Amino acid sequence: MINVGIIGYGYWGPNLARNFAEMPGAALAAIADTDQAKLDVVRRRYPAVKTTANFHDLLADSSIDAIAIATPVSTHFEFGMAALKAGKHLWMEKPMTETSLQGQMLVEEASRRQRVLFVDHTFIYTGAVRKMGEIFKSGDLGRAYYYDSTRVNLGLFQRDVSVIADLAVHDFSILDYLTGEYPSAVSASGTNHFPGTPENLAYITLFYPSGMIAHANVSWLAPVKVRQILIGGSKKMIIYDDLEPSEKIKVYDKGVSFTDDPTQIQEMRVGYRTGDMWAPKLDGTEALRVGGEHFVDCVEHGKTPQTDGELGMRVVALIEAATSSMRGKGETVYIQPNRKPS
Ligand SMILES: NC(=O)c1ccc[n+]([C@@H]2O[C@H](COP(=O)([O-])OP(=O)(O)OC[C@H]3O[C@@H](n4cnc5c(N)ncnc54)[C@H](O)[C@@H]3O)[C@@H](O)[C@H]2O)c1
Repeated sequence: MINVGIIGYGYWGPNLARNFAEMPGAALAAIADTDQAKLDVVRRRYPAVKTTANFHDLLADSSIDAIAIATPVSTHFEFGMAALKAGKHLWMEKPMTETSLQGQMLVEEASRRQRVLFVDHTFIYTGAVRKMGEIFKSGDLGRAYYYDSTRVNLGLFQRDVSVIADLAVHDFSILDYLTGEYPSAVSASGTNHFPGTPENLAYITLFYPSGMIAHANVSWLAPVKVRQILIGGSKKMIIYDDLEPSEKIKVYDKGVSFTDDPTQIQEMRVGYRTGDMWAPKLDGTEALRVGGEHFVDCVEHGKTPQTDGELGMRVVALIEAATSSMRGKGETVYIQPNRKPS
């Protein structure tokens, strides 16, 4: 049984608490939050769970094996490092840290102490993204041409991170999982419409060595919520609409082919293929449950999580590159091939 302590019981922390409380193999042991009103809610919901305003109490408690950090991103590095130094296994909320250097320090500390470092890139544990991973890996998609994501709604405005670190972070982790490729260049534009606050809208383009191009439109300033990804491959095309209650993924047998027949050289040599569309059955298990059970398994058996600190670092490095491009009004930021941690 893995005893888990959670730091931060704001918007996301309660989802972690519910999953760890219900999961076989894990026990929700304690929750720390500086906001007493949040702790009052915890005490009503989980009377047996210890509560404290001081997260150091969780680190000093030898009965706690693992710490989950669900506080604002600006606190992640300090809290994560303290938890590792106290000998705890670590669950970090996304994005892992503010800088890739901080991420690297956490990865090294976890490795030195042989502790599990899990980064909650939740989408990787959804049935929809896993199904798309199967379609990529089986070769059914063919060559990946493009990935085009729209992730917009009204809010939630964050105080300490931009919309890139809050929303595009999901696309960066999904792309890493699906393609296994790392971009060679990034160009992003975006703005903050409200002085003194982080950028609330951004358009990010990622260029890949294989020729694939990816785009993410992320915003906290849209009248409606949209969570849609369009993927084009040489054999199949996919629409993933995360707001669809069922049939989130639709796979289209559509595409184009070009002939190199010399007799047609003067003509448009493109042919269009329009075949069937189908909606594969997806595993509907809550992603946090799948990720949580994987975390417990990694702690129990000394395994490396699928969403480990290395992935966390790759994602943070992309946030840095995209942010740098955005602040240079879309100027291309090249990523060294060796920038991708192995
Ligand atoms: N994986 C996902 O899909 C997902 C979704 C939402 C949020 N998140 C991540 O979860 C983290 C938290 O986001 P949120 O939206 O819940 O933020 P939030 O502001 O709603 O909650 C943060 C909580 O941390 C508490 N806190 C702050 N400083 C503290 C301290 N020193 N000690 C103890 N508690 C402290 C606050 O009182 C608050 O209750 C962020 O990293 C965010 O990116 C992840």
